[in-house]
Amino acid sequence: MAEVFPAGMVWLVGAGPGDPDLLTRKAERLLAAADVVFYDALVGPAILALAPDAEWISVGKRSGRHSKDQRTIDDLIVRAALAGRRVVRLKGGDPSIFGRSTEELAQCARHGVPVRICPGITAASAAAASAHTSLTLRGQARRLTLLTAHVRAGEPLDIDWDVLAQPEATLAIYMGRAAAPELARALIDAGRAPDTPVLVAVNVSLPDERLIRGRLDALPFLVRAIGRDDPTLLLIGEAVAHGPAQVRASVMQIC
Ligand SMILES: C[S@@+](CC[C@H](N)C(=O)[O-])C[C@H]1O[C@@H](n2cnc3c(N)ncnc32)[C@H](O)[C@@H]1O
Repeated sequence: MAEVFPAGMVWLVGAGPGDPDLLTRKAERLLAAADVVFYDALVGPAILALAPDAEWISVGKRSGRHSKDQRTIDDLIVRAALAGRRVVRLKGGDPSIFGRSTEELAQCARHGVPVRICPGITAASAAAASAHTSLTLRGQARRLTLLTAHVRAGEPLDIDWDVLAQPEATLAIYMGRAAAPELARALIDAGRAPDTPVLVAVNVSLPDERLIRGRLDALPFLVRAIGRDDPTLLLIGEAVAHGPAQVRASVMQIC
């Protein structure tokens, strides 16, 4: 590990969806070797326990409430590396998916700090696994689109609804809980069938995981009782209707 993680280096590490068993072995080794770990709000205590000797610094963001802005995070990481520390920047899921890793990579490059990425399991993969379903489906769901419905306050959702309304696409919508009513309306207006299957996955892989099944026109109701701080992924499309009957019975069904 000393070879791949010398002093003064940064690793952007994917923490997966929350369950420490879903970390990669490499992520676990990097955490064990780190001097300092800058971590997101969605990284839970079970993962923090894996590196008790490192200094843990929360730079978390939740539901638009940022504990530190992105430029401050970029600077903190670089300064720690320039001080000769082994730095892990631990991010929920996979760093390359709505993880702002590009800014952190660029800041490291500007200062000549060596940086590498350790991928993680993204929320969409983990949600499909928990629901015993697939994100693609031969002949029916040939395309998987990952999108975010998070925009800055006051900005409209700038999305090509006609493309997303095509029936062969599975949509995995990150940060989409608050915009769910608008999303459902826009997709149906653009031609997506109102009875398109939907899976709302909350706190995936964590002890308080909830999987809520329903249809697109019921989406505003499906998300109504979900807390503002509960990470929520929306999966929409024919593929997510499939799964063994015994599993379907164990999740909430709202139609
Ligand atoms: C800033 S994005 C980061 C995504 C992350 N990089 C990934 O690959 O999963 C945060 C969003 O990911 C989704 N998410 C992350 N972890 C989740 C979980 N355990 N359960 C449900 N959704 C999750 C939610 O939509 C949450 O608002």
